[in-house]
Amino acid sequence: MAIISILKYGEPLLLEKSLPIEKIDDEIRRFIDDMVETMYAADGIGLAAPQVRELKQIIVVDISAGEHPEELIVLINPEIKAEEGSVVSEEGCLSFPDITLEIERPRYVRVRGLSPEGKELELEAEGLLACALTHEIDHLNGILIIDRASPLKRDLIVRKIRKKIKAGEW
Ligand code: NI
Repeated sequence: MAIISILKYGEPLLLEKSLPIEKIDDEIRRFIDDMVETMYAADGIGLAAPQVRELKQIIVVDISAGEHPEELIVLINPEIKAEEGSVVSEEGCLSFPDITLEIERPRYVRVRGLSPEGKELELEAEGLLACALTHEIDHLNGILIIDRASPLKRDLIVRKIRKKIKAGEW
């Protein structure tokens, strides 16, 4: 397994749409292992393939951040089948280090996708897990947390990041 460097905001690849996986093979499974290791090494609770330079529809989520490995969720070609309600919560993203934003997301989601073994999975989630799943699925559509924030907040964050880039801190 290997830890992959995570792309930060500013990389054009993060704005692109990922493609569905047509064949799940050992190469894909190895890549998923690397994604999981990368997420844990970064203390994240979720990671999407485009964040590690692959425009593939794969997400990994573990809201326990590795404390309870049985909580790890790997979804290939995930799709949101239903959503209900809305909640606003403070969110971060491994592509936006040290930045958090208040974001509105559905309170409940039903998500379908494939496991690394190619088995159909359907899961229901609420609260933090619903938030993490929709956040990662957003990445597969090139949507980032600043795209979900108010225009004012978005401008503020973009300016803050530009300053950091100038100072070589991003
Ligand atoms: Ni993210």
